[in-house]
Amino acid sequence: MANVVVVGSQWGDEGKGKIVDWLSEQADVIVRFQGGHNAGHTLVIDGTSYKLSLLPSGVVRGKMSVIGNGVVLDPHAFVAEVEKLKAQGVVVTPENLRIAENVTLILSLHRELDALRENSSTGTKIGTTKRGIGPAYEDKVGRRSIRLMDLKNLDTLRGKVERLLAHHNALRRGLDQEEVSADVIYEELTSVADQVLPFMDSVWKLLDGERKDGKRILFEGAQGALLDIDHGTYPFVTSSNTVAGQAASGSGLGPTAIDYVLGITKAYTTRVGEGPFPTEQQNEVGDFLGTRGHEFGTVTGRKRRCGWFDAVLVRQTVCTSGISGIALTKLDVLDGLDEIKICVAYELDGERIDYLPASQGAQERVKPIYETLPGWKESTEGARSWADLPAQAIKYVRQVEELIGAPVALLSTSPEREDTILVQNPFQD
Ligand code: GDP
Ligand code: IMO
Ligand code: MG
Repeated sequence: MANVVVVGSQWGDEGKGKIVDWLSEQADVIVRFQGGHNAGHTLVIDGTSYKLSLLPSGVVRGKMSVIGNGVVLDPHAFVAEVEKLKAQGVVVTPENLRIAENVTLILSLHRELDALRENSSTGTKIGTTKRGIGPAYEDKVGRRSIRLMDLKNLDTLRGKVERLLAHHNALRRGLDQEEVSADVIYEELTSVADQVLPFMDSVWKLLDGERKDGKRILFEGAQGALLDIDHGTYPFVTSSNTVAGQAASGSGLGPTAIDYVLGITKAYTTRVGEGPFPTEQQNEVGDFLGTRGHEFGTVTGRKRRCGWFDAVLVRQTVCTSGISGIALTKLDVLDGLDEIKICVAYELDGERIDYLPASQGAQERVKPIYETLPGWKESTEGARSWADLPAQAIKYVRQVEELIGAPVALLSTSPEREDTILVQNPFQD
């Protein structure tokens, strides 16, 4: 049985939600393994749009969904998302959703610290989602987090909160902020415990059992490889590993459980927040892509920066995530352009290079070297077979495959679930 990992191959918002939804018909279990409610995954099913941030996209189909230990979970945001989905007719119960007992919790003080840093005039502005993601991961690595299982043991919770606050109140004093009392955090946690604890489970064990029963597991990545804490455009990244390898450690299944890595890849490039973006088009091309692609953030509503497809970046992601094949999305957004550019290499200080250098300074200095392809005037929107695609669009897809060194397994031509062309089924690799 094939288990599939879905990851973003650029800077996020590649259309992971749509593709996970499409694939989840064939899956038994859908697992989130990193990130938190900084993600915004959109599913459109028969004209109805569902926006998921923390919950795996499989909940919409009623599939067993799992939030793995690699996620950082804001319990109040979790309850709010479950309520929001309920209003759309999606039922989320412990029957179809489990949360790892060792998941790290995001608290109000993480959110406040995230916003304080982002709003400060000193330091590097990252353009975060201000959801507290970075500060929560810092506490996890600092070995002082409150984890879900701690809500079950009220005798020791207060001591853990006090230990955490010894660190945070020192930070807050330095930032001229009022200290937080242990009572406030204790109440914040205990007030939500009854709503979250019923979902708690030993996820590694559950997944091991599912695997041994021959069930198909679909891992749903958030963000994208260029936002990875190690492999991304540091420091303009998120605070987790977003590459496919994280699916194993963020869920408790070993890497041998992974059979296929599907990289979700937008037919052009977008980025939200600060940081280098070699192919960015701050001109009519960028406006065209942003308008046709409705490029506004799902979580924060921010306008996404837009540019040409960068094959150098995706080629690198194919390596860092071990991508078996890609799902190329939003091809339809390119309809109507006279010509389309693809970045095939960079120029760095007068030399041609074929990779993204690791240093921040060099990432800012690289200049794209483009190849230009003719566009197409016909519409590809809603196409469901290769026969529906104009010859120039097929040429573009073939050129992308050639340049990134990975085949197109799926092609997406609209936000709708069914507007998807299947080339190679990742579950039947
Ligand atoms: P994710 O974070 O990777 O799940 O992506 P988002 O949901 O944040 O952003 C992708 C957006 O593009 C969503 O609004 C999707 O509904 C939409 N989308 C996905 N695939 C396609 C496609 O092939 N064509 C078009 N036009 N829109 C798409
Ligand atoms: P999905 O799963 C796009 C970006 C933020 C910021 C940086 C750090 O929908 O693809 P954070 O709040 O994580 O500390 O912010 O990462 N970012 C995303 N960009 N899509 C996302 O998720 C993102 N999640 C975080 O804009 O630049
Ligand atoms: Mg998104």
